[in-house]
Amino acid sequence: MPILIRTIFWEDNAVVMIDQNALPLEETYLVCRDYREVVTAIKDLTIRGAPAIGVAAAMGIALGTLHLFPASQKEFKTAFDDICAQFSRTRPTARNLFWGIERMKRCFEAALISGPDDTGRIKQSLIDEAVRICEEDIAVNRKIGVNGRSLIQSGDNILTHCNAGALATAGYGTALGVIRAAVEEGKRIHVFVDETRPVLQGARLTAWELMKENIPATLITDNMAGFLMKQGKISKIIVGSDRIAANGDAANKIGTYSLAVLAKAHQIPFYIAAPLSTFDVNIRTGEDIPIEERNGDEVTSFRGIKTAPEGVLVYNPAFDVTPSPFITAIITEAGVATPPFKTAIKELFKA
Ligand code: MRU
Repeated sequence: MPILIRTIFWEDNAVVMIDQNALPLEETYLVCRDYREVVTAIKDLTIRGAPAIGVAAAMGIALGTLHLFPASQKEFKTAFDDICAQFSRTRPTARNLFWGIERMKRCFEAALISGPDDTGRIKQSLIDEAVRICEEDIAVNRKIGVNGRSLIQSGDNILTHCNAGALATAGYGTALGVIRAAVEEGKRIHVFVDETRPVLQGARLTAWELMKENIPATLITDNMAGFLMKQGKISKIIVGSDRIAANGDAANKIGTYSLAVLAKAHQIPFYIAAPLSTFDVNIRTGEDIPIEERNGDEVTSFRGIKTAPEGVLVYNPAFDVTPSPFITAIITEAGVATPPFKTAIKELFKA
């Protein structure tokens, strides 16, 4: 299946990204020529989804470095570190963001020592690395799809939450990548899409992606999921993840944990699809995953229209953590991990 959705790419010394806040009403692209525009785009969800923000940070760092004209190597390094620090403050939960920044730091260090003191050469190495990270992500997602598709049967009704599709990655998607790969194999799949309050990534983005590729999909509100499971309408659940601890506990969009608990109660397989860049094996359990809290306006209004009384108190955690006992399997590019997750995850990293 050709890639129909280009989430983010490097073109003419600019970072170009589809504006996910404008979707599904408008398909427009934001052209960032200043790295600070990329910083803002990550913060305000113009680009979102764990792997996609990792790619955006990498490209943003390359862009920021391009406009540096340092007098010394020391000055170059200080300015580079400052740009990296700005990206690391954008969003706290997705491991992929920090993974992307760490790769760019390693690339910078390697370029510094590997040739003549030529800033042009170092800048080009960083651009090449960012583009590589983007291309690798698409290839990794295709592998996740191939590894996961055998878990899907023709006739499945799959529930997904948030958007773990092409838009959340450099392309193809993780959870939606598995669905795409099963469809490419000729399997007949129907997807139930949780709208995903409060930012509606399901309604606005996942529904749009699936409709674009003619994959049968039905939109539901988040609070309908339990009833559909009870009615026997859902055979599997597949979601993405923002950070996975060494024991398999997985952070994902708020509402994922409720789905996992409901899935267990109804004996429905609950799958996570994620690249190795989402794993944080230095974190023992999900208890230590930092959870982003976002502005209460996301809960009290939508696109400028108030939906709650002025001044109401709001709590808006953007993610929750699903403990690993609720997870049937974690699908990655290196294979499918099943319980006990601690040893299975170690094996993934050895492969
Ligand atoms: O706040 P968002 O839209 O960045 O949250 C995204 C999610 O929770 C996705 O499910 C997750 O990043 C996995 S994407 C492959």
